[in-house]
Amino acid sequence: MSKIAIMGAMMEEVDPFLELREHEPLLKHFKKHNDIEYGGNIYHEAKFKNHDIVLAYSKIGKVNATLTAATMIEKFGAEILLFTGVAGGINPQLKIGDLVAATQLCQHDLDITAFGHPHGYVPEGSVYVKSSTVLLQIAKKVAEEKNINLLGGIVATGDQFISDEAKKEWIRKTFDADALEMEGAAVAVVCDALRVPFFIMRSISDTADAGAVEDFDEFLKHSSQRSSSFILGMLDKIVDGQIK
Ligand code: ADE
Repeated sequence: MSKIAIMGAMMEEVDPFLELREHEPLLKHFKKHNDIEYGGNIYHEAKFKNHDIVLAYSKIGKVNATLTAATMIEKFGAEILLFTGVAGGINPQLKIGDLVAATQLCQHDLDITAFGHPHGYVPEGSVYVKSSTVLLQIAKKVAEEKNINLLGGIVATGDQFISDEAKKEWIRKTFDADALEMEGAAVAVVCDALRVPFFIMRSISDTADAGAVEDFDEFLKHSSQRSSSFILGMLDKIVDGQIK
């Protein structure tokens, strides 16, 4: 039985798990037994159908996400990491509320092109980090069963909230990206280095253009709900033994 980490960046992104626990059938099997403060974050240890869960939000950005993902693995012993949250859609097919499962992630703001390297690359690294194929298959099954249109796509991460058409287009063209956000690739690098299978789910909150700030504020809650209920569907499958 694997210990499963559920991670978001903002309180709003993990709130559906915490808020709904008492009041909704959605999380009726999710029993919390411990809150531990560590490194400026609170880690909720819980049980989901007899499986150990650790749930936390990191705060925004790659550094915070790195700390939380590494802590979940190294201190709390997580063996699978599921990320839930929102993203800006940059593939024109993506509308607010749509779900994107990251197949690969990259850092759009990592730049040593001055030394002749491609954007997003540092020596001994790679531009893209791939998500767990097993978890992506589970996501595909959940989407089929729930009749959800799930896009598998490239997610670009950087320490910037993007609300600019030109910048958005640059990220889309340079990385062939479908969505952008501020933590996924950091989590991917940590999990890849520590050999922990990971899955990054994002629901679109805005389209990273001039209206992004207003859209983000309006849709953060709703899109976070969509993402977290999908993750819950995956948890059901994971604990039913589709991954060891
Ligand atoms: N997360 C959600 N929308 C975003 C945007 N437009 N830029 C960066 N991160 C985001």
